Amino acid sequence: YVIGVDCGTSGTKTVLFREDGTVMASATVEYPMYQPKNGYAEQDPADWKAAMIRTIQTVVTKSGVAKEEIKGIGISGQMHGLVMLDKENQVLRKSIIWCDQRTAAEVEEMNRVVGREKLMEITANPALTGWTAAKILWVRNNEPDVYEKCRHILLPKDYLRLILTGEYATEVSDASGMQLLDIANRCWSDELLHLLQIDKDLLGKVHESCEVTGTLTREMADTLGLCEGTVVVGGAGDNAAAAVGTGVVRDGKAFTTIGTSGVVFAHTSSMAMDTKGRVHTCCAAVPNSWHVMGVTQGAGLSLKWFRDNFCAAEKQTASLMGVDEYYLMDKEAEQVPVGANRLLYLPYLMGERTPHLDPNARGVFFGLSAMHTKRDMLRAVLEGVTYSLRDCVEVFREMGISVDDMMACGGGGTSPLWRSMLADLYNCPVKTVASKEGPSLGVAILASVGAGIYGSVPEACDAIVKTDKTQNPQAENVPVYESYYQLYREIYPALKAQFA
Ligand code: XUL
Repeated sequence: YVIGVDCGTSGTKTVLFREDGTVMASATVEYPMYQPKNGYAEQDPADWKAAMIRTIQTVVTKSGVAKEEIKGIGISGQMHGLVMLDKENQVLRKSIIWCDQRTAAEVEEMNRVVGREKLMEITANPALTGWTAAKILWVRNNEPDVYEKCRHILLPKDYLRLILTGEYATEVSDASGMQLLDIANRCWSDELLHLLQIDKDLLGKVHESCEVTGTLTREMADTLGLCEGTVVVGGAGDNAAAAVGTGVVRDGKAFTTIGTSGVVFAHTSSMAMDTKGRVHTCCAAVPNSWHVMGVTQGAGLSLKWFRDNFCAAEKQTASLMGVDEYYLMDKEAEQVPVGANRLLYLPYLMGERTPHLDPNARGVFFGLSAMHTKRDMLRAVLEGVTYSLRDCVEVFREMGISVDDMMACGGGGTSPLWRSMLADLYNCPVKTVASKEGPSLGVAILASVGAGIYGSVPEACDAIVKTDKTQNPQAENVPVYESYYQLYREIYPALKAQFA
């Protein structure tokens, strides 16, 4: 048996799996995101720690599996978040998380000090607002006393590793998103650290994702009801973990996930990057391979925002009927024709990455008329997010990355309506895997490789990951969506200057 922990933005989900991928028990604990200012986003690492401990305790107790049978733990998490610790390992400030947009000045600083070309050459990406390096510089520039006291810098899931094992460590997939890693050589870049004047001792040791990074301490083993010495592997950033959990570990394979953010991700055994930096290139959780990914900042977030502000009635009905409120919202949106009666939505609630790289962009409803209803707006939100995911696929196509096999996962991937929109807009079949556990399963697979149960990540995926449903594009919808997509593409350029 192996455990996968996924420290997400809305909550932490932990799943205990049998070696063949069967779920024995699962538990989720939610926590808040703080937005002290427009464009800021923070979370409290103490919430992540408490959620991890509670969910592991729950799955161990609920499953009834003997602790000696649990061979390993894998950890996955939201990428890019900055955790700063003092010399006593005390958290110095709330974590500035992936979708925070406060670092425009630090992005300029990186371009000035390092230069755009060198950044591309070393990190395979242009300086990015949400990535960790810019956040580190922001703290140094704005909270010098915090920076002064800082002795350790960790990513969200690597903070959890420290709690579990006492080790300061990370792994290549998540470390790629710190923007301090030499992506081709899979190690910290001394040159970049020197130019940015960041002390390498602040950073943990870099491992491959399936390597053992440490073992459970006696104290944590007692707290969790597990054995001291249980191995903890590198794990992966949530997207690289989802790739393993959906079998996207070979060329030609890709997935789309709709969580708080939306990501289109393709595996590649040779490093590829977009010279315009519109999609990210990172190390994959599979040794000797990389991935490209396009990111929509406000994917599931858009739907959650709509639900929280406009769908109180649906929430109430759902709870009375004992069904999921998103299921009811889907049913409402299904009653509206393709194109939402000519209403378009731009999902830029938290700025946008692919393809605009614009932290100032904001959401838009375009074409509202007195005939529109809440239902049209709901459908427009779902379609708008899908148009922005299609933008990611367009960049892959320009880069010559071919996608033969597209999987759908994340909360949004469970919606048949959203999957049909993806298939129609990508104009290719969209599949799901039988297990809905994505990142948790992915890191559990990495743990099973680290614990020696399987010989390699692709071998473990072949044994565990099974395709479930296939959604084919509907011929009559494809041209209709295509024409709305072309219209969608014209809106942002027309508004760009006004957002700034
Ligand atoms: C990827 C990214 C998001 C977070 C969300 O670059 O920022 O997908 O990992 O969890």
